[in-house]
Formats: sequence, structure tokens, C-alpha cells
Amino acid sequence: MRIARMQDLTPSAAIEVRRLASDEVDEQLDALAGVLFDCVAGGASVSYMAPFPYEDARAAFEGFVAEAKHGRRLILAAFADGDLVGTVQVILELPPNQPHRAEIAKLLVHRSARGRGIAQLLMEHAEAEARAEGKTLLVLDAVTGGDAARLYDRLGWTTVGVIPGYALYPDGRPCDTTVFWKAL
Ligand SMILES: CC(C)(COP(=O)(O)OP(=O)(O)OC[C@H]1O[C@@H](n2cnc3c(N)ncnc32)[C@H](O)[C@@H]1OP(=O)(O)O)[C@@H](O)C(=O)NCCC(=O)NCCS
Repeated sequence: MRIARMQDLTPSAAIEVRRLASDEVDEQLDALAGVLFDCVAGGASVSYMAPFPYEDARAAFEGFVAEAKHGRRLILAAFADGDLVGTVQVILELPPNQPHRAEIAKLLVHRSARGRGIAQLLMEHAEAEARAEGKTLLVLDAVTGGDAARLYDRLGWTTVGVIPGYALYPDGRPCDTTVFWKAL
């Protein structure tokens, strides 16, 4: 079991963002799970409740990796000096009447690597990959007023509205959710 325990990034760390190829997703499974584990431990509302052991994070990513291998979603990763510190997914497979649409999910950056523009880079690459897949409309949701929602505003996403009490934080408190869309 490998749980990411990283020092804060040095300002000079070289950042690389790329879509993971099918053979690479297996290789990076532990690191991807480590980032999810760290985000939930930090209180992020991203589907999971506390306690959220590393094994559950790994099981969640095993499911995402299986989907990626079937071409149903893309998994992108951000590396800092070669270490995986962030990830985002593009869900490609939607109902037959929405072939032009994709959803963005699980934008996650390890706490040690935040505030360096890594999430922004991940989103820019995710949009480019979606466009390359022929998608012209993206949809996502985020905790209202949170760090991610601010990022989506900055990147030109349009707010549909707020759904009060839509989800829970890992500790059980309710949180409002804002739904966004972006035309590519
Ligand atoms: C939301 C999340 C992905 C943002 O990741 P991040 O890599 O820190 O995001 P960025 O660095 O692009 O932007 C964060 C802030 O750093 C600032 N920033 C970016 N580069 C910077 C730099 N070089 N120097 C100083 N500040 C910088 C941004 O302007 C932004 O400021 P703001 O918070 O005032 O808006 C991260 O906090 C996270 O993983 N949260 C938990 C999981 C989660 O909630 N995911 C969203 C699901 S919808």
C-alpha cells in the first residue's frame, strides 16, 4: 500500500499534465488513490464519507480505471518532478442522445501541491482532451463557494444554479452544490 505523504512542492518543481494511456492507469493506480485519500482526509466533498481508508480510495480508482480501459472515461494526471499530485476525469459515455456532451469529475490535487495552478492546468487539458474526442458541451458540479467553484468561474464556466443541501461533507455536514456548463 502506498499512501502519498509528500513534502510541499518546491517553487521550481516541474509540472507536467497529461492524459494517462491505458497501460499507464494501472501503473499509477496507487498514486491516484493516494491523491483521492488525501483530499477526502482534508474534508473534500467528492462522493465519499469519513472514515475513508486508503483501501476504499484504491477500490474507487479501480472502478474508474476499468471505465477508462473501456474508453468510457479519460483519466488525466498532473506530475510534479515526476510524482503524481493531481488528477481529473472526463466522462465520455453518456446516453445515446447526448453524444456531444461530456462530464468533468474528480478534480483532485494533493494538499501538498495546491495553490500552484495545477488544477487550472488539469482543467485546461481536460477541456482540450474533450474537444479532441469531439465533445462540444461540458457539465460539472462543485461545492458552492468552494475553491473549485472559484476556479470554474475563472475558467469561463457558466453557473446554472445552486442546489441547496445536495451532498454531504465527509463529516456529515450538508453542502450546497453549484451546477456549471461550458461550451467548447
Ligand atoms: C479545488 C482544487 C482542485 C484546486 O486545486 P489547486 O491546484 O490548488 O488549484 P489552483 O492552484 O489552480 O488554484 C487555487 C488558487 O491558487 C491560486 N494560484 C494558482 N497559481 C498560483 C501561483 N503560482 N501562486 C499563487 N497562487 C496561485 C489560484 O489563483 C487560486 O486562487 P483562489 O483560491 O484565490 O481562487 C483543490 O483545492 C482540491 O483538490 N480540493 C479538494 C477536492 C475538490 O474539492 N475537488 C473539486 C471537485 S468539484
